[in-house]
Amino acid sequence: MFRSINNNQGELITIYFEGRALNVPKDHNVATALLEAGISSFRQTALNNESRGPYCMMGVCFDCLININGLDNQQSCTIQVSDGMKIRRQVINTSGKNE
Ligand code: FES
Repeated sequence: MFRSINNNQGELITIYFEGRALNVPKDHNVATALLEAGISSFRQTALNNESRGPYCMMGVCFDCLININGLDNQQSCTIQVSDGMKIRRQVINTSGKNE
């Protein structure tokens, strides 16, 4: 769905999305790295479990919130990947508690 227009990806690092290892360019932000890996659902809405993913890619819409290293509500389009980073889809149930 998404691919880089830059053929030279430079140095790669490993991040983990729900346990799946992904080798990504070290200068990517989290949202870009996941989209290039074919992952577009970053969180689910609390009321009806609809999927949400990055929209603006510039820190405005907050649709790219995701769990990074155990912390919810991380704005993935504004955070650079780091080696060993653990990322999970963010799911918050109707009680307001994370699953
Ligand atoms: S994609 Fe809009 S804030 Fe991250």
